[in-house]
Amino acid sequence: MPTAIDVFAKVRGHERAEQLRAAREADLLPYFRRLESPAAPVVEMEGAERIMLGSNNYLGLTGDPRVMQGARDALDRYGTGLTGSRLLNGTIDLHLELESGLAEWMGTEDAIVFTTGHQANVGTLGTLLGPGDTVIADSADHASILDGCLLSRAKLRPFRHGRLDKLEKMLQRAADDGGGVLVVVDGVFSMEGDVADLPRIVELCRAYGARLMVDEAHAAGVLGARGAGASELHGVEQDVDLRMGTFSKSLASCGGFIAGPHEVIDFLRISSRAFLFTAAAVPAAVGAALAALRIIRSDEGPALFARVIDNAAYLRDGLRGLGFQVLDDGSGPVTPIVPVVVGDDWKAVLLWRALYDAGVYVNVALHPAVPPAGALLRTSVMATHDRATLDRSLAAFASVKAEFEAEHGPLPEPAAL
Ligand SMILES: Cc1ncc(COP(=O)(O)O)c(C=O)c1O
Repeated sequence: MPTAIDVFAKVRGHERAEQLRAAREADLLPYFRRLESPAAPVVEMEGAERIMLGSNNYLGLTGDPRVMQGARDALDRYGTGLTGSRLLNGTIDLHLELESGLAEWMGTEDAIVFTTGHQANVGTLGTLLGPGDTVIADSADHASILDGCLLSRAKLRPFRHGRLDKLEKMLQRAADDGGGVLVVVDGVFSMEGDVADLPRIVELCRAYGARLMVDEAHAAGVLGARGAGASELHGVEQDVDLRMGTFSKSLASCGGFIAGPHEVIDFLRISSRAFLFTAAAVPAAVGAALAALRIIRSDEGPALFARVIDNAAYLRDGLRGLGFQVLDDGSGPVTPIVPVVVGDDWKAVLLWRALYDAGVYVNVALHPAVPPAGALLRTSVMATHDRATLDRSLAAFASVKAEFEAEHGPLPEPAAL
C-alpha cells in the first residue's frame, strides 16, 4: 500500500509560508538580496549603491590586494578545486602552513582546518561527544553548535543566554548524568554581539571538572592584543580546551578551524566525518585565509583591530544618540556587532526596507535566530568604513526613524544607562 503522507507536504504548509508569501509580494523580503560588487564598506546591491552594515568582513580584508594575490597564487598553482577529501587527495602545503600558523596564533599545540566553520563545529562536537556524555550550551550559541550537539546524541542541557547561575545549575545536574561534560559557548554572540564572561565560565568549568570549547568565529581577528579572540581578551587562553574559528569573517575567505591539544586535533583528523567525508576547501580559499592570517599576525594587525572596534563604538553611540535602542549597554567589551532592537518581526522588516531604500544595508534577525518578539536589525562595521560613510549611514537612520515612527508608531527607546 502506498504511504498516505507525502514528505514534501511540509514545504507547502510550514508556519512561515504565509509570512514569506506576503513579504515577497510586497518586496519586503530582507534575505537573498543580490550583491553586485565586492563586500566593501559601500557596495552595489540591486542596481544601487548601499552602505554595507551587514557584513562579517570585519577587517575589510576581502578586497586587500595581498589577500586577493594569495587566492590567485593558490589558484594558479593548484587549480580550481581539489576534488577530494583532506584524507585522500585534498591536502596541499597551504593547508599545513595554515594549520601551523593558526596553532601559533591561538597559542595551542595544533589546529585542524575544515572546509567551513559549520563543519568545524559539527565535525568536532559530533565526534568528541557521544550518547553517554552531556553538553551544556548557551541558548544563543550558533546553530552549527546546536547541530553538532544534536548529531552527537549527547544529553543537551541548554541554559538561558548569559545566565551563568543557570550554567552552574546545569553543571550540577550534569554531574549525575554519568558521562563526560563539555561546556560550549560563543566568544562573541553572533546576533547580540556581546562577549561571553569567560573568566567566570572557566571558573565554573574548573569547579565541576567540565571541558570548555569557545567558538571564536566573531572574536578572532578582532578581540585581544593578537586578535586571537575572546579567550585572549579575557586572559584565559590556557584554560579553554578547544577554540573554534572561521575564515568567513575577519579572515576574509571561507573555511573553519579548531585549535587545541595535539591529541584531540589528531583524533579529529582520523575520526571527524565532517572532515573526512567532504572535499577540501578550494585552493583559492585556503590561499586567501593564509594571506589574511599573515596580515592579522603582522604589525598591521593591532591597528586594524582598533579601527573596527572604534567604528563599532562610533556607530553604537551615534545610533543611541538618535534614539535607537542598541543592545550593547556599554558594560562589556565593544565588538563589531551593533544590534538595534525592534521587537516586532514586521516592524523590523519594514524598517529594514526603509533603510535599504535610503541606501543602507543591514541584516534582519528574526526568531529563531533571536528569541520570539526579539527582532533585531543587526548592524556590523568594518575596519575600512570611514567616518564620512558612517555619518552618512547615521543620517539615513535619522531620517528613516522620523518617517517610520510617524507611520508605524514608536520604536523601542534606548535603555537608561
Ligand atoms: C558563531 C558562529 N559559529 C560558526 C559559524 C559557521 O561558520 P562558517 O560560516 O564558516 O560556516 C558562524 C557563521 O555564521 C558563526 O557566526
